[in-house]
Amino acid sequence: MKKGRVFSGARPTGKQHIGNYLGAIQNYVKLQQDYDCIYCIVDVHALTTLEDTHMLKANTHDMMLDWLAAGLDPQKSILFVQSHVPEVMELHTLLSMVTPLGWLLRVTTFKEKVKMQPHNVNYGLVGYPVLMTADIVLYKADIVPVGEDQLPHLELAREIVRRFNNIFGETFPEPQAKLTNFPMVLGLDGEKKMSKSLDNHIELAASPEETTRRIMGAFTDPARKFRNDPGHPEVCNVYSLHHFYTYLKLEEIGKQCRAAEIGCVECKRMLADNINKALAPFREKRAQLAEKYVDEVLADGARRAHAIARETMKEVREKMGLP
Ligand code: TRP
Repeated sequence: MKKGRVFSGARPTGKQHIGNYLGAIQNYVKLQQDYDCIYCIVDVHALTTLEDTHMLKANTHDMMLDWLAAGLDPQKSILFVQSHVPEVMELHTLLSMVTPLGWLLRVTTFKEKVKMQPHNVNYGLVGYPVLMTADIVLYKADIVPVGEDQLPHLELAREIVRRFNNIFGETFPEPQAKLTNFPMVLGLDGEKKMSKSLDNHIELAASPEETTRRIMGAFTDPARKFRNDPGHPEVCNVYSLHHFYTYLKLEEIGKQCRAAEIGCVECKRMLADNINKALAPFREKRAQLAEKYVDEVLADGARRAHAIARETMKEVREKMGLP
């Protein structure tokens, strides 16, 4: 017997990088053992910030291919694309009727987005958390694995659920956030979180040569200008990546860096080798998965998600008294 139902969504950002893997995908894969999992690529959410949509399809495809190669298993989980189950947009509209506008205008992520794209403060942006709530409750999920940045959205989802249940009778479970306890993965620039938009990332599907080239170009401890300067591993992003890929020798490398016994070049070469070794099975599997397979998985996922969505919407329409 599984412990409950998990739902999580991720925007279609295309090929995934090691930050995506360590922060989210790895956790998605693990949860499959104990929960009924539903993982969704949220293409409609992406439209709130995208003006140019020509990459949407390819990015969705690439992302799902990475998910599958990383161990998400369509035999165990439902893997699908948000817009393939249009009921979510109907539920979004119905939930919007019990969501005070004030709640939405107060959400910090909304205010940040207004600052980021003042030329495109669209209606969908205000409704972003309502659509996210619809994602979760359409499948009556109880557990939502997310990063800390999504907690305000989850809190709002719970408030919307409570209000709906109050007015129309017990319908949806209150979703619980399940925080992943992975520390933030720094990018190769050494300052910011690893992200594709900052181009400070290592793609899971990159070739070993590309991986090595990018690691060799990474910034390290800025105070270590010369080979004989002692290093400060605690502030070095290359060392922080060693945490994930260099289990046994981690302390040793830290000591050698502090004592200037190894230089940054050597240290980076070791990291690149270890990352390439760790990713080899993923890369092999990804190369073997047929292009057509992704489409089959998505079609089957949509079919299974749809069956659940139809049931929920029947109940919602009845409870709300729609004729
Ligand atoms: N807002 C989430 C993000 O940007 C993506 C998302 C959409 C989501 N719907 C969801 C996450 C439902 C969890 C559950 O990362």
